[in-house]
Amino acid sequence: MAVERTLSIIKPDATRRNLTGKINARFEEAGLRIVAQKRIRLTKEQAEKFYEVHAERSFFGELVTFMISGPVVVQVLEGEDAVQRNRDIMGATNPANAAAGTIRKDFAESIEANSVHGSDSPENAASEIKFFFSKSEIVP
Ligand code: PPS
Repeated sequence: MAVERTLSIIKPDATRRNLTGKINARFEEAGLRIVAQKRIRLTKEQAEKFYEVHAERSFFGELVTFMISGPVVVQVLEGEDAVQRNRDIMGATNPANAAAGTIRKDFAESIEANSVHGSDSPENAASEIKFFFSKSEIVP
């Protein structure tokens, strides 16, 4: 299986509850390596740009407001089949539907405050990684 990279975001509900270490442990236990990481405050403009594909959806304004409500940790995860593996570890978008043992089942508060974001395809991973990181910030 190919070694891939994916973009992960630990969202404001999780940083507020000091869950960064516990979530990172899930990634590492699953064989994903954190090859870049920074804690930042997204601006409104950054959040709108990052989520622009969802601009027409009814929850867009709430999603942006939530994502700028506190610090986030943006990170690059590397490993075999990293995009799908991370989606599997994260669990379903709505924690009510997430499988047992997933990050969202164990930590998420709601469909909005769902603790983590992960790229949904290798193509989107490449552009999302570029959105936050320069080449020199990624240290495999
Ligand atoms: S996914 O993962 O893209 O298939 O999920 P999707 O359902 O399309 O949701 C896209 C992102 O929007 C967030 N979301 C919401 N935010 C606020 N309120 C409501 N109701 C809501 N529904 C979905 C969801 O958490 C996804 O965020 P990311 O950061 O991409 O995981």
